[in-house]
Amino acid sequence: MSHNTISLNKQRQPLAHLESVWLFGYGSLIYKTDFAYLDTKPACIYGWQRRFWQGSHDHRGTPQAPGRVLTLIEAPGARCAGMAYQVTPDTFEHLDHREKNGYLRVFTPLHWLHEAGEAEGIVYLATPDNAAYLGPASDSEIAAHIASSAGPSGPNSEYVLKLAQALRAMNEHDEHVFAIERELLKLL
Ligand code: SIN
Repeated sequence: MSHNTISLNKQRQPLAHLESVWLFGYGSLIYKTDFAYLDTKPACIYGWQRRFWQGSHDHRGTPQAPGRVLTLIEAPGARCAGMAYQVTPDTFEHLDHREKNGYLRVFTPLHWLHEAGEAEGIVYLATPDNAAYLGPASDSEIAAHIASSAGPSGPNSEYVLKLAQALRAMNEHDEHVFAIERELLKLL
């Protein structure tokens, strides 16, 4: 699969017939909200965990020297907390462009963190068959890679540090994110 997913997402999942859609953010979509939304609330999804296994050619790296950003990996019993945003379907013009580097939109149940209830929502995830996928590495290798990467959106380290800060502000612990942050802070 090509690493540019804009047309694939449009084709696979038309949204124009919907009045509004919930979007779940687990990475930069938690701390960088550069789109309008109707409502937002903390939420979680089950059966998925964050991993810095996706290459970034367009935000935190370049095609010649990709950075490392998050994707979600299936993990039975896992819980991943993030932010949900209720948006109008036209917002996906911007979001598909922002998340074009290998991410496909998938519908999954979102559970609110601070109130009862759930909704179906869209999550962007990058599967191993996309051309920008990097896959697993040790925490120290991932941190070293991130410490030396940068792209049009800024240093790759900022992605990790801002996310870790945002998760702490939500009182959420993510061992993978915090382990990479610890290794990274040794190098910066
Ligand atoms: C997300 O934040 O939900 C997707 C991955 C990213 O843009 O960092």
